[in-house]
Amino acid sequence: MKYDWAALYGEIRGCRKCGLCEMRTNVVIGDGDPHARLMIVGEGPGRDEDLRGVPFVGAAGQLLDKMLAAVSLTRKDVYIANVVKCRPPQNRVPTEEEATACLPYLRAQYALVRPAIIVCMGATAARHLIDPQLRITRDRGVWHERQRVHLIATYHPAALLRDASKKPQAWSDLQSIRRKYDELCESEKHLN
Ligand code: URA
Ligand code: SF4
Repeated sequence: MKYDWAALYGEIRGCRKCGLCEMRTNVVIGDGDPHARLMIVGEGPGRDEDLRGVPFVGAAGQLLDKMLAAVSLTRKDVYIANVVKCRPPQNRVPTEEEATACLPYLRAQYALVRPAIIVCMGATAARHLIDPQLRITRDRGVWHERQRVHLIATYHPAALLRDASKKPQAWSDLQSIRRKYDELCESEKHLN
């Protein structure tokens, strides 16, 4: 699919490609800088996101903002999206069918943003973008490269809210992400 932003947003707003369309208040497409070097991908909208039509604005989103701030980044420096654009009931994990229906939109988003780095927040994003067998506890914090895009999986902020003992590992991932960001943005400057 070839898209521009307006066409993409228009199509998603009217999308009925999977059953999640029946229950949504709003589609939740993306937020932040459409030219960001770093893209963050979550799972799908929760209740607050569904009500506001903006990704990561509930409790997990507030933690995400703090995590970004800890490495001197804000929401305006990154582009944030999810695997599915409509809220799964009770925040369940999107089914294969739902994710497959929705993923072309995420691919169109990163084709338009062209980030240097993609951070997968949690297993759903990581399995769809990095490896279907990926397990966060085992495989987080490892860099992968696909077509010159650097990808990493880390804990979803909602997982950190449930289990604070994961925070040191999340912090080490964040620092690794910040180092990669500095490294890539430095080398991009030399190209100009
Ligand atoms: N969790 C997600 O994965 N995405 C959101 O947008 C909010 C919570
Ligand atoms: Fe369409 Fe994605 Fe919403 Fe399903 S979740 S209806 S594919 S926008």
